Amino acid sequence: MIDQALLTVQDLEVEFASKGALGRNKHVVKAVNGVSFSINKGDTFGIVGESGSGKTTTALAIMRLVKATKGKVSLGDMVLTDLHGEALRRARRQFQMVFQDPFSSLNPRLRARDVVAEPLAMLDRSNKDNARELEEVFAQVGLRPEQMDLFPHQFSGGQRQRIALARALVTRPELIVCDEPVSALDVAIQAQILNLLKRIQRDLDVTYLFISHDLGVVQYICDWIAVMYLGQIVEVAPRASLFSYPLHPYTLSLLSAVPSASPGTKAWKAITLKGEPPSLINLPTGCIFADRCPVMQPECQKSPPALQELSDGRRVACHFVEEKEGTVQNTLTGGLEMINVLT
Ligand SMILES: Nc1ncnc2c1ncn2[C@@H]1O[C@H](COP(=O)(O)OP(=O)(O)O)[C@@H](O)[C@H]1O
Ligand SMILES: [Mg+2]
Repeated sequence: MIDQALLTVQDLEVEFASKGALGRNKHVVKAVNGVSFSINKGDTFGIVGESGSGKTTTALAIMRLVKATKGKVSLGDMVLTDLHGEALRRARRQFQMVFQDPFSSLNPRLRARDVVAEPLAMLDRSNKDNARELEEVFAQVGLRPEQMDLFPHQFSGGQRQRIALARALVTRPELIVCDEPVSALDVAIQAQILNLLKRIQRDLDVTYLFISHDLGVVQYICDWIAVMYLGQIVEVAPRASLFSYPLHPYTLSLLSAVPSASPGTKAWKAITLKGEPPSLINLPTGCIFADRCPVMQPECQKSPPALQELSDGRRVACHFVEEKEGTVQNTLTGGLEMINVLT
């Protein structure tokens, strides 16, 4: 590979202890269960999945905002999971985050300029005159200089996400983690923010980890996409491959639920998922998707499929994916043609 990985996540696990009624019956919730992926510099890597699949917890563990139970996260030469105290605080300028809710994520008592300057203050630069940097970053997110003196409640949701993005950009980070950054916004405003993210990436070569439950949004902005289910990645692929020939039955079912994203064949439209995902406390022994899989086979309940890597770099966790002589298919999800992975 010529492309250089900026962020590398290896075998990340996050467990939460959850107490039952009256503090008895302590359970361990495996919110993130062996997640691995890497993102090339300047790319946008998406994580998509239903609510509760572990997307936010993955983001927070990478950001060192929740504790990883296991695993290694590296950003360039820095091993983020090894950093503590002062070293971690200094490293934070390289990785920043935009949260989902533009209303609760900004301190209501601070003026926009001070909200955006917060990360600089954390870097002990509060005494320095940072007026020029602030003006520059406000312009980059499409806000006017006079808006710097307003309070968050004086802005619309879309404008607040611009402020959140300015705050993330102000330390000139290499990586920005965006967790559902447009999910709380009207559709028309969503497009504006997504286009802004794209423009900023073109201008500043920043790398994004972009999390969303919305396949349409992910399809619009991401270069590579990982599909998460129950704390695990079940498929990772370049955008075009994922949307033109999904290989995991779960990916197929997600796509068939979105009319605009689903390819036109009957076989693809036929899939509807039954039931709810199983509990994270008591994970199935075989494939985690077996209970809900429309094409489940006896073997699927016995052993978990490995996340096998195909020759084009995509990965998929299904016993029935076969690659031979440059073609790949899932032998169970009929209706898919053998597609040359090299085209
Ligand atoms: N602090 C926590 N304590 C206990 N369980 C948690 C905590 N945070 C998240 N979870 C659980 O972990 C799972 C994954 O949650 P989350 O990462 O927020 O998923 P997503 O962002 O994909 O909706 C959920 O079952 C959620 O209830
Ligand atoms: Mg979430």
